[in-house]
Amino acid sequence: MRKKYVIANFKMNKLDSEIEEYLSTLIPLTVAGTSQIVLAVPSVSIKTASTKCKDTNIMISAQNVSEHDFGSYTGENNAEMIKAVGASATLVGHSERRGGYGENDDIANKKILCALKSGLVSILCIGETIFDRKNNLTEKAIKSQLTSCLKSIYANEFNHIVIAYEPVWAIGTGVTPTNQEIEQSIKCIRSVLTDIYDEDIANSVSIVYGGSVTDLNIRELVKISSLDGVLVGGASLSCEKFSKIISIFEKKKN
Ligand code: PGA
Repeated sequence: MRKKYVIANFKMNKLDSEIEEYLSTLIPLTVAGTSQIVLAVPSVSIKTASTKCKDTNIMISAQNVSEHDFGSYTGENNAEMIKAVGASATLVGHSERRGGYGENDDIANKKILCALKSGLVSILCIGETIFDRKNNLTEKAIKSQLTSCLKSIYANEFNHIVIAYEPVWAIGTGVTPTNQEIEQSIKCIRSVLTDIYDEDIANSVSIVYGGSVTDLNIRELVKISSLDGVLVGGASLSCEKFSKIISIFEKKKN
């Protein structure tokens, strides 16, 4: 049985005090769930959030991690630092990092290696651009991103990897792929993993979908049997909407 995830990505939103307040509302609503809830908060709030979530089923994640160890990298946070303040996971390769900060697959790969060294779970974000989609290059993009991002990562490290399929054109746009398209991409991800590793690894990795997930379209998304979770940006900023997404996802049949 693969682990199920409902992940919030706050991006650069919410002050520390607002995150604390949000968690005071969210925590009592999530006590009975079986999915792993993850909150990717701004780095400056990891400590507050992780302290607040101690002994709950909410895991705190960073939104980014440095591809370096300690050293002269002004403005960066490394995996050890993130872990020391209470994060157990980090997003890696989010399209806003790729698009806005020049991060490529090679950098994402280095970040995963650093995260693994510190025992953090990497939530690796991959997905095609609108250009790829229009030119029938979705599967090619998935294959190339996965192959590069997972270089030198061993099969026995896959219990620390979650894959987030996030088509770039669906992030923050209100547009989502059809369930069949998401299913097809999940199938493609598992087939690439089978080629690189083997079927056992491919079937053991949790794959979540992200891109304009809301408390409304979640009802449709949970019909995708191969889907192991969702990564929610905009809609997660409302605790009411995010807790609704969690409770609908919790009722997912498979
Ligand atoms: P969105 O963001 O839900 O606002 O589209 C998702 C993401 O960026 O991970």
